[in-house]
Amino acid sequence: MSTPKRAAKSATKRAPKRKSRSTTLPRNEILLGDCIEQLKALPDESIDLVFADPPYNLQLEGDLLRPNNTRVDGVHQDWDKFKDFASYDAFSRAWLGQCQRILKPKGALWVIGSYHNIFRIGAALQDLGFWIHNDIIWRKTNPMPNFRGRRFTNAHETLIWAGRDQAARVTYNYDAMKAGNDDLQMRSDWLFPICSGSERLRDHEGRKAHPTQKPEALLHRIILATTNSGDVILDPFFGTGTTGAVAKRLGRNWIGVERDPEYAAHAELRIEKIKPLTGDALDVSRSKRAEPRVPFGTIIELGILEAGSRLVDEKRRFKAEVRADGSLAFEGLQGSIHRLGAEVQGKSACNGWTFWHVEAEGKLKSIDLLRQQARQELGLGDARPVTFAGE
Ligand SMILES: C[S@@+](CC[C@H](N)C(=O)[O-])C[C@H]1O[C@@H](n2cnc3c(N)ncnc32)[C@H](O)[C@@H]1O
Repeated sequence: MSTPKRAAKSATKRAPKRKSRSTTLPRNEILLGDCIEQLKALPDESIDLVFADPPYNLQLEGDLLRPNNTRVDGVHQDWDKFKDFASYDAFSRAWLGQCQRILKPKGALWVIGSYHNIFRIGAALQDLGFWIHNDIIWRKTNPMPNFRGRRFTNAHETLIWAGRDQAARVTYNYDAMKAGNDDLQMRSDWLFPICSGSERLRDHEGRKAHPTQKPEALLHRIILATTNSGDVILDPFFGTGTTGAVAKRLGRNWIGVERDPEYAAHAELRIEKIKPLTGDALDVSRSKRAEPRVPFGTIIELGILEAGSRLVDEKRRFKAEVRADGSLAFEGLQGSIHRLGAEVQGKSACNGWTFWHVEAEGKLKSIDLLRQQARQELGLGDARPVTFAGE
């Protein structure tokens, strides 16, 4: 393989000669060198998500030929070769251990692999105290056939998604995944083609720049599902920078570690060309449950609604008075917006936020809109400016 026309420029950092642990985190950079050494230099608890596509230890022997005698473009590089399983395990446990150290308390890790290595990686993860949340089957629409015809077509790869430890409350954008899947829960079997066509990076002689470049679609789903805008994603086996390219497009920070300067140079040129999405395009769907909690009393305290105001239901059957402590009163009954809403209707439960309304200029506005205004005033989450229907 030959280098791309321009060599990696300043954003690619060579491993310093003497490694000491840094207190600052490099961002949006490729760190050139061995990942275990490079990871050792990064600060504790500084990374939101690791995505790792490590050597699979494929143990390929000799050339594989197609029926027409052409050679299959397999993975024959030295970086995929290990003396035995014991040395592969020692390597895996060393880089996984470093990833665990640099992950934030809520941090998580993804590893992709095949039957050659994924079971060993899974055991290492559990031994180290990672907490597995899912394994994902990436089913390939266009897998390589089994040319010798002696086995099933190997048509999938496996990804493991694990928290740093059992206590890690990892990010999962459930509603975004469901919305993007036509309102059905996203499942653990994903269908994507392998990387091909214009997405596949090539050198100036038209050869593949990297034997195992992953499809961007895979990273798109992973990053959208398990990170938020502005998070830092680290890939210890960066290759041609698929993780960095998708992270940049989706408004996340990235750090790549790669020991081969040619791959790193391809990655750098690729990422440079990516235009990040901006504004609303980056927002993810969230359920009401996921929004920061603001009690009704806070709306009174902030002066968004005055004590003594009247709240009504949508059909104006019940007119309750708002009291200074954030409770409501109606014909001798009193209670929270939820309890009073339930009592006046003779029901056991009621969502007071959608039941009660304020009247302004002849129009009814749900008090849920006042709650959004309160979130905005309190600077909580990504609350949007409140607009009322008709405005
Ligand atoms: C499976 S490939 C990753 C491909 C990448 N996901 C992509 O889409 O281009 C693994 C990469 O890890 C690199 N690598 C292998 N051992 C490494 C090590 N100890 N430290 C850093 N990089 C390493 C290899 O050079 C190779 O580019």
